[in-house]
Amino acid sequence: MQSEKEEKEIRVRKIENGTVIDHISPGQALNVLKILGIMGKLPENAITIAMNVPSKKLGKKDIVKIENREISEEELGKISLISPEATINIVRDNKVVVKKKVKIPEVIEEALKCANINCITNHEKVKTKFYAERKSPLKLRCHYCERIMKREDVLKIFEQEK
Ligand code: CTP
Ligand code: ZN
Repeated sequence: MQSEKEEKEIRVRKIENGTVIDHISPGQALNVLKILGIMGKLPENAITIAMNVPSKKLGKKDIVKIENREISEEELGKISLISPEATINIVRDNKVVVKKKVKIPEVIEEALKCANINCITNHEKVKTKFYAERKSPLKLRCHYCERIMKREDVLKIFEQEK
């Protein structure tokens, strides 16, 4: 018989090198991949996704493991818009060498579409840019049209893109 701990550990295989994005809000794993730009095409690296698995801290959580790729600070900021509780673990030679919580950046460029259909960024080749006016609850302001986006608006944009 396996102990509960062992069973938990083998649910998702450990990785040798890469990034483990842990404590993702349940159901948001695919949106995390979208905001990182690794959806809709064959990824370069092996990716493991676990959704709605038990978590001591959160009740339920999602996990994304990206092998042989270390997430950048900028990408870490993008993930915070989808899942403010996520933890980033950088794994080298089987060991977690860096552990970070995601942090909402002051300025968010190129990660999000503006919810305002009349915004210039939805009509011309202009990169989007938002300012985090408030971090909790999230309030982003579009640099171009001043539209305010809350976390639910951010998630809605991702739902529409499915
Ligand atoms: N992990 C992995 N491969 C490794 C090492 C760790 O996939 N070689 C994963 C673990 O499965 C876990 C996450 O990375 O999902 C963090 O690992 P660790 O810090 O060892 O786990 P915890 O102490 O449980 O993390 P936390 O305190 O963040 O909950
Ligand atoms: Zn706008």
